[in-house]
Amino acid sequence: MPRVFVTRKIPAAGLLRLQDAAAVTVWPGEMPPPAEVLRAQIAGCSGLLSLVTDRVDDALLDAAGSQLRVVSQMAVGVDNIDLDACTARGIPVGHTPGVLTETTADLAWALLLAAARRVVAGERFVRSGNWKTFDPTFMLGLDVHGATLGCVGFGRIGQAVARRAHGFGMRVLYAQHRAVAARAAQHVPLATLLRESDFITLHTPLNPQTRHMIGAPQFDLMKRSAVLINTARGAIVDPQALYAALHAGQIAHAALDVTDPEPILMDSPLLQLDNLTITPHVGSATLQTRDRMAVLAAENLLAALAGARMPHCANPQVYGTV
Ligand code: DGY
Repeated sequence: MPRVFVTRKIPAAGLLRLQDAAAVTVWPGEMPPPAEVLRAQIAGCSGLLSLVTDRVDDALLDAAGSQLRVVSQMAVGVDNIDLDACTARGIPVGHTPGVLTETTADLAWALLLAAARRVVAGERFVRSGNWKTFDPTFMLGLDVHGATLGCVGFGRIGQAVARRAHGFGMRVLYAQHRAVAARAAQHVPLATLLRESDFITLHTPLNPQTRHMIGAPQFDLMKRSAVLINTARGAIVDPQALYAALHAGQIAHAALDVTDPEPILMDSPLLQLDNLTITPHVGSATLQTRDRMAVLAAENLLAALAGARMPHCANPQVYGTV
């Protein structure tokens, strides 16, 4: 049987599929395998099932050896993988789009509502024994209904967030290089979106073009009442510029599920701010969705081992089809 290395415990639904067809080793640690350990473990394997916490680069591919036939990532984002290096070696890279769309949009929406209505601050206030009376001027948030939502990136997840916005009677703007046929959403330049949106939600992949695409010049354009939501990748936002904008009250609030670096350092000044809501990269973290992701990652991997085209390939040019 071909040998496969899985870099962390994954839901049984996916693991069982792999174990039917391969000799599987699962890294048992709570933390990801360190790079040198991963290089040692991957030697001689035909398949690697990776997570966003693993760096897949030339050094790792060299350590694996020429028998490595597939890298399958249990995530939609593959910015931790050197796709060109994999393609150059003829290795298809699997990923898991689609199955996590609605779940990730749910979390973006939860963060948007939490930030707008100060849910986390309210919770802290009550638990710390400060709730003395009803106060007509206290803990005033922002209306979500009727406000303008700006989606930066309008792929599957951005469009799923927009569908939720329509249920709240919001005007929806989106910015990305190409227009899509979308119900009641207006394609605008990024600068227009940043100027006009009350809530700005990020849904672009991380790549050299999108790294720090939200920085000081972009915060300068935003409303003072704007809320920024990031469930995509931390490095899309320049963290120093974000701190400066939040600290100066240049925007009202940020709600982040992803940071740069990840996890956020405990001495990050961002964590001192009351106008930041933060969760630990859990956009796709539901029982059902993690099962679906594990199964799809296993299916991608097994297809490649069988010499078939994988259902979801992040570097389709490997098949000669650009
Ligand atoms: C993804 O799929 O890219 C998420 O960030 C991890 O689930």
